[in-house]
Amino acid sequence: MNKNIDNFVPAEEPSKDQPITVLMIEAVGKCNAICGYCPRGQGLLGPETNTYITMDLLDKALDLASSGSNHAIYLHHRGEPFLHPKLDEIIRRVREKGFYTFLSTNLISATPDKVKKVLTAGINQIEMHYSAGLTRLPHEVLLKRIHEIRKLNWELRNFGCRLEMNFSLFGETREIIMEELSRHTYYDETLYVRWFEPHDWPSLEKIIDRGVDYRDCHWYKHKACAILSNGDIVICCLDQFSHSCRTNIKDIDRIDWESLADRRMCQGCTQHVEMNWLEEDAIDMPLWLTRKQEIDTWTA
Ligand SMILES: C[S@@+](CC[C@H](N)C(=O)[O-])C[C@H]1O[C@@H](n2cnc3c(N)ncnc32)[C@H](O)[C@@H]1O
Ligand code: SF4
Ligand code: SF4
Repeated sequence: MNKNIDNFVPAEEPSKDQPITVLMIEAVGKCNAICGYCPRGQGLLGPETNTYITMDLLDKALDLASSGSNHAIYLHHRGEPFLHPKLDEIIRRVREKGFYTFLSTNLISATPDKVKKVLTAGINQIEMHYSAGLTRLPHEVLLKRIHEIRKLNWELRNFGCRLEMNFSLFGETREIIMEELSRHTYYDETLYVRWFEPHDWPSLEKIIDRGVDYRDCHWYKHKACAILSNGDIVICCLDQFSHSCRTNIKDIDRIDWESLADRRMCQGCTQHVEMNWLEEDAIDMPLWLTRKQEIDTWTA
């Protein structure tokens, strides 16, 4: 299924010897939060994108991923993974295929029962996107939830899953937020918080020429891509808009470079410089994951 045939010059393949790497397989396209700094939260995506991956499509995506250079697969992209009723089964299949599995959640649907299943299935990293949760739930509920997740991680995995809380500084300062958090019983200052300044992601909805060269991007250099929950292949985590989509995995048995060659959106992308996590966490084995493997009690 080729789209947007006109008006594009295919990007040159970085290296023929390097395999194509499927770094993300989106469990769910839909979301239940309304973050102002995310295209999904801003309502820029149509209802046709509210898809949930099927188990058949997941298996196909995992087969296509098996020749890549990554050791880990992320399960989020445009939506909230915990909305998938079979998230634990998805994680189990990814782990059985030999990949570590990471996801990011807004915490809204990450109830203790669901988290228990996900930890038992073998998730290796949960990023808890706290500022997203705040768009729907108050601090008390979110902080108690984090407390419960940490407790379950201790009981079920000997702290074998890495937990990170991340918080977007979107018009607020870190000091003001810290002061608010510290007033709540369940806030624990020993939890690692990653503060981030959101980039203007919604601005990528339209392709604007800002003179960015796609060859500087880690996604390009690693020949990495993402598979959305309907099977569409896109060139990176920022293409929620399917600008780059030329192929659906239902129609292919291997991913060729042509599927990743539409890089028109890259010319407007100023955030590719922040993409070194690709190799640090998912392509090279990070020290934190080696350490976690030494204590993790999870077995297949
Ligand atoms: C798009 S979300 C999808 C998964 C899930 N819904 C969530 O929010 O955790 C994935 C990650 O993107 C990050 N993110 C969202 N908007 C961002 C922005 N404008 N700039 C940088 N990171 C952003 C979030 O912190 C989150 O960890
Ligand atoms: S950042 Fe995550 S939680 Fe927020 S709207 Fe986007 S997909 Fe939903
Ligand atoms: S849109 Fe940005 S992050 Fe995505 S592949 Fe292009 S340059 Fe890289």
